[in-house]
Amino acid sequence: MALKNDLLLRAARGEAVERVPVWLMRQAGRVLPEYRAVRERLSGFIELVKTPELAAEVTIQPVDLLGVDAAIIFSDILVVPEAMGCPYEMVEKRGPFFPNTIRSEADLERLQEPEVEDALSYVLEAIRLTKKELNGRVPLIGFAGAPFTIFCYMVEGQGSKTFAVAKRMLYEAPGLAHRLLDAITRVTTAYLKAQIKAGADLVQLFDSWAGILSPQQYRAFALPYIRRICEAIQEVPVTVFAKGAHYIVPDLLQTDCQVIGLDWTMDLAQVRAQVGQQKTLQGNLDPCALYAPEAAIKQYVEQMLSAAGKQRYIANLGHGLYPDTDPARVRYFVAMVKELSAML
Ligand code: CP3
Repeated sequence: MALKNDLLLRAARGEAVERVPVWLMRQAGRVLPEYRAVRERLSGFIELVKTPELAAEVTIQPVDLLGVDAAIIFSDILVVPEAMGCPYEMVEKRGPFFPNTIRSEADLERLQEPEVEDALSYVLEAIRLTKKELNGRVPLIGFAGAPFTIFCYMVEGQGSKTFAVAKRMLYEAPGLAHRLLDAITRVTTAYLKAQIKAGADLVQLFDSWAGILSPQQYRAFALPYIRRICEAIQEVPVTVFAKGAHYIVPDLLQTDCQVIGLDWTMDLAQVRAQVGQQKTLQGNLDPCALYAPEAAIKQYVEQMLSAAGKQRYIANLGHGLYPDTDPARVRYFVAMVKELSAML
């Protein structure tokens, strides 16, 4: 199926675009009343993730309602630990919780390396349904957590400001940490390949907790596994979003990823100067900037476009949308990127 709008893929591959493509991290769910209406009919988030027809419906909502140039499959990075034998619960207002954590050799022995086609069939089915319903309107983004971020949840067992329990293992039992990271990497690679086979046009690795590591620790425990995944995935472009790891850009230039995601603490113009046209950049408006009035949002978009340039650039936020953002401001942001970048 040929895509009617392939701006995202052309930008990712470094091909010429007539305007800048735009989508938003966490665009599916969270801000849309239409999403909440679907979710309220169910027991909760996890049931929605495991019901492919509804996951496909909420995946497509932002394409219709926000005007974005890509859909991202409605799922979560935590489906991978679940498939490996660490199921999660989503506790209202507190976030994920894992009754079984991995903290010892014995815990690691109990871990499974599942056939992803079976264990994560519900995500793959949601991708197939979404592709069919999108009918080529825009590309579909698949995703997974980067191994270190998944490691954080599997060891810590819940969200944390410091992830000190997970980091402790890096210092106390580095061999055990590497074995767990290695297992996560194998499952994640197979899972991303299965997503691509099911129809994902590009895949993104979310390393949401990259920022808690020192550069040395990041290069030892996170980057090698990202590099392995990028090398294994040659079928479609890969985006790496390592939140808070501003020092890692030169290393990412040496990997097989096509797109580098930037958070809002990074200076877009400086990173562009560093990267040139070697890779595509994605980001990086502060999600809170969407609380500003429209005139200010327009200025922020102008600043982003002048820093990043029109080619090899994908406009996005520097992290996921916050739930209390007014959808009208999101629509305005998307419309401004389209309008202003077409004039460049
Ligand atoms: O981007 C999208 O719109 C696609 C869907 C998506 C979700 N989670 C749905 C979701 C994606 C790409 C994710 C990724 C994810 N999940 C990350 C990486 C990106 C990031 O934000 O750093 C992380 C760290 C998680 C783990 C996670 N999932 C947490 C910490 C929470 C609870 C707090 C929160 O963000 O709401 C979730 C729940 C979650 N994942 C929700 C959604 C729509 C909210 C659940 C609900 O509807 O109640």
